[in-house]
Amino acid sequence: MADLEIKNLHVQAGDKQILKGVDLTVRSGEFHALMGPNGSGKSTLANVIMGHPNLEVTEGTVTFDGEDITEAAPDERARAGLFMAFQYPVAIPGVTVTKYLRMVINAHREARGEQPIPLKEFRTTVQEAMELTSVPKEFSTRYLNEGFSGGEKKRMEILQLALQKPALAVLDETDSGLDIDALNVVAAGVNTVAQPSGMGVLIITHYQRILHMVKPEFVHIMFDGRIVKQGGPELVTVLEEKGYGWIREEVAAAA
Ligand SMILES: Nc1ncnc2c1ncn2[C@@H]1O[C@H](COP(=O)(O)OP(=O)(O)OP(=O)(O)O)[C@@H](O)[C@H]1O
Ligand SMILES: [Mg+2]
Repeated sequence: MADLEIKNLHVQAGDKQILKGVDLTVRSGEFHALMGPNGSGKSTLANVIMGHPNLEVTEGTVTFDGEDITEAAPDERARAGLFMAFQYPVAIPGVTVTKYLRMVINAHREARGEQPIPLKEFRTTVQEAMELTSVPKEFSTRYLNEGFSGGEKKRMEILQLALQKPALAVLDETDSGLDIDALNVVAAGVNTVAQPSGMGVLIITHYQRILHMVKPEFVHIMFDGRIVKQGGPELVTVLEEKGYGWIREEVAAAA
């Protein structure tokens, strides 16, 4: 069971304390959404799960698949089955989307001690993944990182998700300014790739709209470095109606 367990996590960047005791468990096959106002620490949580080098865990643990990965290097986490969203390589001249995907797949295979993927198998796999995620064919011949729009970055991310089939994916959709088309790509990725394969998903978003398209079972609200509220999909509706003000008041009243 590839469960992600975060316990009493305190994280700082430089001198700044950002996470102040986060508890969160995402079991395999579960679908969680993380919401919360700007600057509350959502992306920091995503980054620390992936092992971002600029973030320091000062207290607490991150466990994945029963192993303490609090101090693990990012590539170890990826090999353990955590999905790293597409990280922008400094432009690699002449590398097409197809070529990049092949590099990613082969890096994973190599890490598992397997041979590189045969070209024919690769073609079929990518084609299937593109169909599944409704990514147009022309996309595969585009050069990586050359004028990718926000939506195209998402396509790349979801394609990678479909090809890698990680045990758990953290998708940070917070500040990407996605249009409806890109939202559809992300929703398709979650609904047709992640859910059927029993992947755990943690999606970070401000867009209630996407949460109507993908339906998380659990919703968490982060406020000032802590998860202050947890519930089911009904929380999304409450936030749509009332915003975050009432949470601010509840937190202030409890202090
Ligand atoms: N490397 C860093 N150094 C200093 N401060 C940082 C660093 N990374 C994040 N922060 C600060 O930590 C706080 C939380 O940032 P974070 O990006 O996690 O918020 P967020 O919840 O993702 O916000 P948004 O909804 O706007 O995406 C912010 O005040 C941010 O400026
Ligand atoms: Mg963010």
